[in-house]
This record gives sequence, C-alpha cells and structure tokens, in this order.
Amino acid sequence: MPLKDSIEAVRSEFRAALGSFPDNPQDVESLRVRFLGRKGAIAKLFAQFAQVPSEEKPRYGQELNRLKKEITEQFNTAVAQQQSESGSAQETSFDYSLPGYPFRLGKNHPLTQTLDEIKEIFTRIGFSVAYGPEVEDDFHNFQALNIPEHHPARDMQDTFFIEKNIVLRTHTSNVQIHLMEENSPPLRYIVPGRVYRNEAISFKSYCLFHQIEGLYVDRQVTFTELKGTLEYFIHQLFGPDAKIRFRPSFFPFTEPSAEVDLWNEERNQWMEILGCGMVDPAVFENVGYDPAEWHGYAFGLGIERITMLKYHIQDIRLFYQNDVRFLEQF
Ligand code: PHE
Repeated sequence: MPLKDSIEAVRSEFRAALGSFPDNPQDVESLRVRFLGRKGAIAKLFAQFAQVPSEEKPRYGQELNRLKKEITEQFNTAVAQQQSESGSAQETSFDYSLPGYPFRLGKNHPLTQTLDEIKEIFTRIGFSVAYGPEVEDDFHNFQALNIPEHHPARDMQDTFFIEKNIVLRTHTSNVQIHLMEENSPPLRYIVPGRVYRNEAISFKSYCLFHQIEGLYVDRQVTFTELKGTLEYFIHQLFGPDAKIRFRPSFFPFTEPSAEVDLWNEERNQWMEILGCGMVDPAVFENVGYDPAEWHGYAFGLGIERITMLKYHIQDIRLFYQNDVRFLEQF
C-alpha cells in the first residue's frame, strides 16, 4: 500500500478506536501501544517513510508528524476526560487546603484621597476647582502678593530658583493672582497643587508638598464667613469632635491674618494646618480690582499635614518613598 493510503488507514482506524474507547486501564494501555508504542502503527509508518523517494520526503514527513501529534493529543484528551468522569485521579490530587493566590488591588495615593475628599467638600458649598503653574515668575509668586524684593517675608519661604526671576512656586497663592487677572469678580475657587520649599527636612517638613488655595471675592465678605467656612470644612473632614484653634498671624497678602491649628492626640500638641485671612487691598490693586468695591478672603491648606492627622501618619517623608507596605494601608 502506498504511504499516502497507509496514513489514511491508520487515521481512520484510530478514529474508530476512539469511538469505543475502553474503560479498563489495561485496554487503554494496549490501545496506546497499538498506535503509539515502539512497534505501533505510527512507528510502522515511519519505517515505510524511510523507503519513499527523497523528493517526496518533505511532504510525507510533515503529514506523518501531523498524524502523530493528532493521535497523541486525542489519546491524552480521551484519557483525561475518562479520569475526570470517573472522578478518580483529578479530584484526589487537588489539595483544597492550599492558600489561594493573593488578589492585589491598586489604590489611590493617600494624598490623592485627601485631595479628592477636600475638593468634594468645597465644591459642595459652591467653590469651583482651578489649577495654575508650578514654575512661576517672581511677580505672581511674590510681588503681586505684596511681597516686594528684599521684604523680610521672603525668608518665610526658602525658594528654589530656576532663573533670576523664575521660581518653583513656594505656595499656591500665585494662582490667586492668575484667577483675578483673568476673571472679573465675584469669584470663588479652590486651587489644589504642588509647592516647593528649600526647607530643613523633618518629620513635618519636606522640600515639596501640596496645598489647596481658597479664594472668595465678592462685594461683601467678612472674616466671620471665612471662620465659619473653615470650621465647617474641618468638621466635615475630621468629624464634629475635632479640636481646632484660630491663632493671629501675618501674611503680606492678607489683613488680618490667622493660622489654624488642629490638636494632634498622638503628639499631644497643636499642629498648624492652614493659613488664611482677608485679602489685602494692595493685592486687589495689583490685579486691577477696586478695593473700595471688592472684598475677599483667602486660605491655604497643607495637604500632607492634614493627611498625617487624618490617618495618624508620623512622618511626612513616607508620602514620597512609595513603599507599597505603607501605601497598601489606605
Ligand atoms: N500662602 C500661605 C502659605 O503658604 C498660606 C496662605 C494662603 C495664607 C492664603 C493666607 C491666605 O503659607
């Protein structure tokens, strides 16, 4: 019989055998030997293959290998199916006490979570969200905010310089100026963003951190409204029992000015979380608003400090190390 026909004959013989697949293990084994054994049908085909003329070898070689693969796979599938049906080997070999694979979920960084929560609280009471540049000119970061060159207040914020008059912003207050330059009053915004200071690094200070600036300008704005808004915000974020105090302070761009401290249970001390005040008339003049007509308040929240108090985190540097053992906890 020519090899071509022999191949087809073995193929249909195996098909027939599959159709009545034996369930006794000895018969399964002799079926395997009959087709795949050392002297089985496939081996015989390879012996016959040795005789074909060499120009036909590539074609028949491929055919034969395909048949061998086909029969091996179908045989194995039939055996596996039989075993799972009879419920023997498979089930007893599975150890149900093995621990499962851990299921890892990605999460937002704790600072992002705090930022989102704060944005949510302020947008609920009528603030819009705006953003501004981190690389800023001296005018927007300092001068327009009533901090002239050589003013001692510049020492409050050690500055990273890009060029002579270009800085990494030291606070988000620069965006107060952009907002007022680009919009006419009234306006009510919060401005989240990164700020940079060349400070001595410690558990509560880092060279970069986040603030949310707030700015409200209208015809009649009072300090009482500022105080009420900030108290409302803090109690929304920390709950009704949060202990806070307003402390008189100084900023060149607000008058009067205050800082707000939150009581830190763990350290048994007050922690400063924001600066605020009534927009100084000089600032309104710098952006072309008439200070006789317009009034406003502004505040700047420190996001790292707030997050540390909220989640009992002892060191600001943890936010910037990206250690998953820390991040996983939020
Ligand atoms: N810009 C001030 C700071 O970074 C905070 C502040 C913002 C104070 C707005 C008053 C008004 O410390």
